[in-house]
Amino acid sequence: MIRLETRFASTFIHSQEFETFLKGAESARKTLHSFQGKGNEFLGWLNLPNEIQNSEIERIIQTAERIRASSEVVVVIGIGGSYLGSRAVLEASLPFFRSPKKGNPEVIFAGHHLESRYLSELLDYLRDRDFSINVISKSGTTTEPAIAFRLFWDLLVKKYGKDAAARVVATTDSSKGALKTFADAEGFDTFAIPDSVGGRYSVLTPVGLFPLAVAGIPIRKFILGFKNILGSLHSETDPFKNPATHYAALRNYFLSSGRSVEILANFNPSLRYLSEWWKQLFGESEGKENKGIFPASMDFTTDLHSLGQYVQEGKRILFETVLSPAAIHSDLTLAATKENLDSLNFLTGNTIEHVNEQARLGTLLAHADGGVPCLELIFPDISPESLGEVMYFFEYSCAISGYSLGVNPFDQPGVEAYKKNMFALLNKEGFEKEGELLRKRILGN
Ligand code: PA5
Repeated sequence: MIRLETRFASTFIHSQEFETFLKGAESARKTLHSFQGKGNEFLGWLNLPNEIQNSEIERIIQTAERIRASSEVVVVIGIGGSYLGSRAVLEASLPFFRSPKKGNPEVIFAGHHLESRYLSELLDYLRDRDFSINVISKSGTTTEPAIAFRLFWDLLVKKYGKDAAARVVATTDSSKGALKTFADAEGFDTFAIPDSVGGRYSVLTPVGLFPLAVAGIPIRKFILGFKNILGSLHSETDPFKNPATHYAALRNYFLSSGRSVEILANFNPSLRYLSEWWKQLFGESEGKENKGIFPASMDFTTDLHSLGQYVQEGKRILFETVLSPAAIHSDLTLAATKENLDSLNFLTGNTIEHVNEQARLGTLLAHADGGVPCLELIFPDISPESLGEVMYFFEYSCAISGYSLGVNPFDQPGVEAYKKNMFALLNKEGFEKEGELLRKRILGN
């Protein structure tokens, strides 16, 4: 089970002032459960772990098995909430170095940026490999994945002709959007994303579950993690005992004292994409109305040799939350050498994990001494089950934190601004006038 440890933050917390934030967070938690708060049409994720249908899980597993059997590579196309959740679990769970093959395919992500070199190299890579596609877009109209899908679908048709459609699984809205129209016209297998679940809360829908199943990750265990933690988070009304309420209160308390940047740090690079997922979750949920904490992330000890200097001695606008799995299942140990040329014999007999743990504790002490409150999120290990717990913990605390801040944690109006400009600059129908104005601005006349 998850625990929030505050020993490296306690000197920064003044209990009387903090009390108000605890009460605020508990009241926000109640608002969430009343289904009367802002954005309440997007609360489908709240009870989803208990509502997800066995028949849906079975169909995901069966379809994934079919795709696995015929593919050396599966290209997962999506952006934002339509790829970060699965990527987080996948990167944390799969071996770093492996030799994928048909029956246990490599999963490659695309459609999450517009770098043409990446896309053309991937097209080249796929040319002589058996591949399939999972294209994911809730709206069905997002430009980046739509462009990627057009390219990879074209290759698929060239390679497999009339059999190409059987190699595509589309995850999208149940009735509307260009992707749904495309899927119906070509006869792709489809999975529906519930209307009431927004992108960044969608990892427990086929958006996240299908790519995980394709990668061979036991999705029932992942789902179990969500189920394990849901009950206690929903029922615990004491904000000190409820880690999600406690975390939401601490975040807003730190913000009120000028700490407007939260660093989610890890000492396990396999958790890097969990941080990317977390950044989207909190950034899109809270960053609006000129409010919110800026969610940043760091991978330690790597970043201790770059950004660590800023954390230790830069502007005091930071607080840190450290992802702290309690157990790492590796016993790699340092042996002694006769010459001790590298002067490392003092570590003889130590596991690398022990060294990493001392680095973690040393860093937490140093950062706290340097004026950065540090929280530790302690969870059992980096298994799909524990990752499920952690993800639900963050989803739940993000909703509470957003409500505490007074914003709608379930919309993302700001994401539209760049899209409108891009369409205008690309002369999309309906945007011609705006395009002219923007070009004048860019040219400075
Ligand atoms: O969280 C969100 O809603 C967004 O990040 C979306 O997931 C992202 O913009 C992709 O949207 P779509 O799935 O409609 O292509």
